[in-house]
This record gives sequence, C-alpha cells and structure tokens, in this order.
Amino acid sequence: MNTAGLEICPLPAELEFETLSPLQRGIKRVLVNPLGNYVPARLMRWMLRVGRCRLAAANWRDPGGWESMVISYNGHCSQLADKILVRAGTIPMALRNRKRLAAHLMAQMIEEAAKKQPGHSVHVLCLGAGPGQIVGEAMTQTDAPAHATLVDLSTDAFDYGRKLAEERGLTDRMHFVQADVRDLRNYLRDPPNIVKMLGICEYLEMDQIVTIARAAGEFMPEGGAIVFNSLSRAHGTDRFFRRVFGLHMNHRDPEALCALMAQAGFGNFAVHREPLGVYHVIVGRKVAPAGESVAAPPAT
Ligand SMILES: C[S@@+](CC[C@H](N)C(=O)[O-])C[C@H]1O[C@@H](n2cnc3c(N)ncnc32)[C@H](O)[C@@H]1O
Repeated sequence: MNTAGLEICPLPAELEFETLSPLQRGIKRVLVNPLGNYVPARLMRWMLRVGRCRLAAANWRDPGGWESMVISYNGHCSQLADKILVRAGTIPMALRNRKRLAAHLMAQMIEEAAKKQPGHSVHVLCLGAGPGQIVGEAMTQTDAPAHATLVDLSTDAFDYGRKLAEERGLTDRMHFVQADVRDLRNYLRDPPNIVKMLGICEYLEMDQIVTIARAAGEFMPEGGAIVFNSLSRAHGTDRFFRRVFGLHMNHRDPEALCALMAQAGFGNFAVHREPLGVYHVIVGRKVAPAGESVAAPPAT
C-alpha cells in the first residue's frame, strides 16, 4: 500500500517488457527529447512529411486516434522516421508495455469473474475501444467464456477490429457499437462484469471521467472490475506531441485518477506500473455505497 492507500502490485514475472538502459535514458534526456521538443515545429513536420512517417500522418488525421495506437502496438515499420519514432520512442514503447500488461490482467479478471458465475459468459465493456486489440488479446489468453461490447465513435476502427476478431476466431464474441461513451445509458443493456477505460481518460476532462465511470458502474455487480490507466510526464516529450502532432493529453497520476473513480463508486484500487513509468494500469472494484455495506458477522 502507498500513502494514498493504493495497493502497488509487482509486475507479472512471466511477461516481457520493453525497457531503456541508463545510457539510453541519459541520451534521450540530454539530446533526443530537447531536439524533439525545441526544433521548430514547422521544420519537424516537414521532415516527417517528406519522410512519409505513418505515425505522424495518423496523428494529423486524428490526434491520438485508434490508428496511431495500432501503428504503435504493431511496431512493424518500413519508413526510417517510423522506425525511429515507433520502435525507439518512449510513448510507443510504453504503449506496447501497457497493452501487454493490461491484456494479461484482463485475462485474469475474466477467469476470476467466470468462476463466480459458472455457465455464464463474462461481459467486458470497452469504452473508447478502437479496434479492440487489448480485449481481443485478453480473450485469446483464456478459455473462460467471455464476450465484449466495444464502443467507439469511429466505424473505421471497427472495420479493422472485425478483421482482427475474425483472425482470432472471436467474431461471434465481439460486438461493435458506434456511439459516444457519454451516452452509455442509451444503449447499455447487458450488465458488464468488467469495464475497460484504457487509452481514453487522457483525452477526457475530470467531470467526464466521473460521469462515464458512474454510468458504467450503475449496471455492474458489486466487486465488478474497472480497468483504466494514468499517464505521467516521464516520457519527456509532451511539448513535441503538442506542437508537432497536435496531440493534447491530460497527464494524471494514479492518485488523481483513483480519486475520480472513487467519486464514481469504485475502490480497492490495485496499481501496476509499466517499466518505463509512463503508464500505470489500475484495476478498481465496484464498492457498495457508503452505509450500504453488510457488516461482517461477529467472530465466535
Ligand atoms: C487512443 S484510442 C484508444 C483505443 C483503445 N482503447 C486502446 O487503448 O488501444 C481512443 C479511442 O477513443 C475513441 N473515443 C474518443 N472519444 C470518444 C467518445 N466520446 N465516445 C466513444 N469513443 C471515443 C476514439 O475514437 C479512439 O478510437
């Protein structure tokens, strides 16, 4: 437990993560990051355009959108600019770590929820899901029965998501809903066991996070899980992303995000830090409203 009462969890030993050596960190801090942050943005954009950088083009079309996530997750690049940004950039590396960690944790959560309701499929509700890569990966890591509802504004993300689902044999278990996550009450019928809000809180205002999490929580059983992520400034390239990519992210630490989720009715937070320290993947549980918890029987 840390001083804010959050449980800090060790990383699963069986997972491999991308890390930086002290030398690589030093070079980024004194050379690479200042260059990215302070070389004139117009020159930087010109170089990325001439270099046919796919990551930059995806962000210019839709800053922080699902396509830039897919490029970062896949990490296979042909252009030199992408090789540098996607393979060696701290944020893309941290995104791949986050995906690996979150998929592993979600597979465990699916198994845990399946044990509590034998014979029923576990429902995972993914908000701002993009093509559903993380939940798809989680579902392929476990034999426990599960299905997912994927909510996103973008239908392009779903075309790619359906292709991925087919490749993974998950077509019948992934349902795509084009909608705004803020309108959850209008379309959510099937109560979720697990709510996934990864890769979306950094684009939302605080009151929006509370409203959305509260709306999802209303449908959930007590003990149901919510998984979300914090974002720290440890990547050192916020100025680059704002000026060159037009990407404005809200940096919040685990304590700040957990305080918002607590307002929405969640507690018992378990915090998992990916090794680069850019993201924390956090799992919270739906708790009974104050005054409604059942007192434990006296010990005999
Ligand atoms: C950064 S991507 C994250 C995708 C995925 N969750 C992941 O972590 O890989 C954010 C996604 O949220 C979607 N999005 C943003 N605001 C939304 C809203 N109000 N309602 C539904 N989807 C939204 C975007 O279309 C985009 O696909």
